[in-house]
Parts: sequence; structure tokens; C-alpha cells
Amino acid sequence: MAELIAFFSRRDENYVNGIIKTLDIGNTEAAAGIIQELTGARLFQIEPIQTYSKEYNECIAQAQADQKRNARPELKTYPESIDPYDVIYLGFPNYWGTMPMAVFTFLEHFDFTGKTIMPFCTHEGSGMGSSTSDISRLCPGAMVEAGLPIYGSAVQRSKKDIANWMTINSNRERTE
Ligand SMILES: Cc1cc2nc3c(=O)[nH]c(=O)nc-3n(C[C@H](O)[C@H](O)[C@H](O)COP(=O)(O)O)c2cc1C
Repeated sequence: MAELIAFFSRRDENYVNGIIKTLDIGNTEAAAGIIQELTGARLFQIEPIQTYSKEYNECIAQAQADQKRNARPELKTYPESIDPYDVIYLGFPNYWGTMPMAVFTFLEHFDFTGKTIMPFCTHEGSGMGSSTSDISRLCPGAMVEAGLPIYGSAVQRSKKDIANWMTINSNRERTE
């Protein structure tokens, strides 16, 4: 069964435990790396052509403006096809209560009918927000599994939680 890990993540200035810090590796990128270790699946980074600012406050404003105008930022590249993949791990930071708009662009680009989507998100307190229902709306033919929210600051300690989440979802699929 082929699997793909598609994720959005942003390095640079971020807000962690109440302090602005510069991250060398984005939190979601780190979580995606753990999933890659556990599954051996292919990694794909969702990258908009126009990246958000390295400065946290500016990035916050840009991302909010994109969300308000329901933007679909153009992406640098896409996987050639998602046909070979049965399971797509979809990772993103919680931006203003849902996914960054570039992830909306990615989801609308393909037909996910018959695919299983496993959403995971890193956040600073809002959990998955409305992302899971947004994914179901954008990918009506897909099976969208329960999402895994991970605190950004706890991502390096999240391997066990990620492994448990993967096991729970695969057991449920087997019994359905
Ligand atoms: C533009 C922006 C908006 C954010 N909005 C939220 C939010 O609504 N709720 C929340 O819990 N965290 C929010 N955060 C915090 C991020 O979700 C969190 O820091 C995440 O781990 C960043 O992931 P990354 O390093 O992979 O980009 C926001 C961060 C940014 C930059």
C-alpha cells in the first residue's frame, strides 16, 4: 500500500510557548519527518511560490489576509500524480483556526476519491480547529480519519503519540 506524506511548514520566526523563536526546522516538518521514519513513505512539501515573511508578525498578517480573501496561493510544484497512493498523511500548522491557504490549493488540485487522508497539525493551543471538516468539504470522496493535533513545542517528544494515532486509525479501518 503506497503512502504519501504531504505537508506545509514554515521555518524562521515563530511563537513558541509565548516567546518568538527562530526555528531551523518547522514544527510540522519535524512531525512529517517522524512519520517518514515510521512509514518509509514519500515526503512532499507543499510550498507556495510567494512565501510568507520570515518575521512572525508580518507572516501572521499575510496569512490572515489570504484566509480572509479565500486565496488559493500558487504552488511551486505538485507530485506528478496521487493515483499511486492509498493513504495521504496531510500535515500543516494551524493558521487562524484552519490550514494555510496553500493546503487548500493542494487539495483542490487532485481528486482524492477513494483515498484515505490522515490529517496531522501542529498548533499553539487551537488543536485541529476546523481543518478536518474543511478537508472533508474539499475532498468529498475521501475518507478523512481523525486528526492528530500536536503542540508545536512538543513535536520532538511526539513519536509515541504519532505511532499510537497511526495504529488506532489502521485498526479502525481493518474492522470497518
Ligand atoms: C500565520 C500563523 C497563524 C497561526 N494561527 C494559529 C491559531 O489560530 N491557533 C494556534 O493554535 N496556533 C496558531 N499558530 C501557531 C502555529 O500553528 C504553530 O506555531 C505551528 O507549530 C507552526 O508550524 P510550522 O513550524 O510547521 O510552520 C499560527 C502561526 C502562524 C505563523
